[in-house]
Amino acid sequence: MTSRIAAAVIVALSILNPGSSQGQAPKTPVSFIRDVAPIFKENCFGCHGAKNPKGKLDMTKIEALRKGGTKDDPIVPGKADESHLVDVLKATDASRMPPRETGDPLAAAKIAVIEQWIAEGAKIDGGLTPSTDLVKELRRRWTPPSPLQRYAFPVQITAQAFSPDGKKLVVSGHHELTIWDVETGKLTARLSTRSRRAMALLFLPDGNLVYGGGRPGEEGEVAIYNIKAAPSKTEEGIAWLNGVDDPKVLVKKLLETDDEVQCLALSPDGKKLAAGGCDRMIHLWDLTPGIANAKLEQSIENHADWVFSVAFSADGKRLGSASRDKTAKLWDITAKESLLTFPDHQAPVFGVALKADGKVGFSAGDDRQIRSWNITTDQGAKQVKAMAGHGGPILKLLQHPKQPWLITAAADNTVRLWNADTAAAMKTLSGHTDHVLSIALNPEGAILASGSYNGEVRLWKLPEGTPVRDFAASPGQMVATKPKK
Ligand code: HEC
Repeated sequence: MTSRIAAAVIVALSILNPGSSQGQAPKTPVSFIRDVAPIFKENCFGCHGAKNPKGKLDMTKIEALRKGGTKDDPIVPGKADESHLVDVLKATDASRMPPRETGDPLAAAKIAVIEQWIAEGAKIDGGLTPSTDLVKELRRRWTPPSPLQRYAFPVQITAQAFSPDGKKLVVSGHHELTIWDVETGKLTARLSTRSRRAMALLFLPDGNLVYGGGRPGEEGEVAIYNIKAAPSKTEEGIAWLNGVDDPKVLVKKLLETDDEVQCLALSPDGKKLAAGGCDRMIHLWDLTPGIANAKLEQSIENHADWVFSVAFSADGKRLGSASRDKTAKLWDITAKESLLTFPDHQAPVFGVALKADGKVGFSAGDDRQIRSWNITTDQGAKQVKAMAGHGGPILKLLQHPKQPWLITAAADNTVRLWNADTAAAMKTLSGHTDHVLSIALNPEGAILASGSYNGEVRLWKLPEGTPVRDFAASPGQMVATKPKK
């Protein structure tokens, strides 16, 4: 994306300068942050990042780049020909960067931009210092697109939450949240977001909405929105809220990170918030001082891969987690230590729940099974039971807050209801025509919302599982989309 912009700049400049042909550097000075840094980010930071960089060369800060890795400063300002950095980009042997085994060399036009930057003295733009974190700076300069008036395609429903009064359903959209009236299935409000999509949503006891999401591979965030704030405009009965930069809507940002946030959980007393994501971390906040002064208490690095799900124990003292590293784990919040690892899925684990009795954990994932395991530490994480499951990977696992029920959503296009005490299957909710990606319960726990890959939201009455209503939750899209297969 960013390098495409850089390429577009070059093309645009060559139109302005008829003498220069495509592939040659522009004649005007290049800007490091606008033209060069995005090329580095796209092609180099993956191996030359701040953590364990290859060749000991960290390219994410100018001062680190200029320090060099195992060799000296790879840049000789004013002399592209003498710069090691240019040598490795143009090399045809094993020293080429990016390395030959990872694919093609950098496009000639991009190399030309870097050469010109060095030839012009390898200067950095005003406002930047040699210690500027380039990942953060590029993120700061990125601005989200405005939401589309009408969607050309249905958007995947990756997250949902019922409002505290149960009357509204907040649904993930494309760079926005869409807010629907539960009674009529009509769109009532749209809240623009910086992130491309929400992966988790939940309401706090104070009525604020917690948003976890991001731009895959680019950035992640935990943001707090006030969906009751004054809209910036109202059109055809739909309120538009600016969640990108209106501080009355975007009340607080709790976390900004380098990859998407995947999951959120609130402790039963509403005092602790947990978030996990693709940076493998779980963050834990104390919300007692109020959201404005929420305090980051712990940053837990207990998983070797993406964290897909987090869940508190009933007493709020332990935290379960599920990961792409094929394990579910149990964390002691007070002692700040890992208690148990449950490895039996042997496949990515997408959902976790801890039973109210404090004795049993549930997890489900790519192996299509719900497994219960012992969470009393003296016995180790022994499997209690491999319950039945689904005909496809189980993507979400939810524990009913008032009843001994588990609810699962899966890639077999169904939602299922289970008795957590007996492990018996209670109901299968059929109707979706695509993978079910998200589920949410209304505050009474009597209505379940499920959302699918092809953009449908379905509402069901529990425990009967009778369909209440369904709608296509993409602005401007007609109801009911074609089956995928
Ligand atoms: C797939 C991983 C990977 C990517 C992507 C990559 N590099 Fe490298 N780079 C390496 C490795 C490995 C070394 C160490 C090679 C060695 O020591 O023989 C290295 C070494 C270097 C060095 C020498 C550092 C020193 O002081 O020893 C430079 C300069 C360099 N890379 C520049 C770049 C640039 C510029 C890019 C982006 C256009 C890039 N690399 C992309 C893996 C990568």
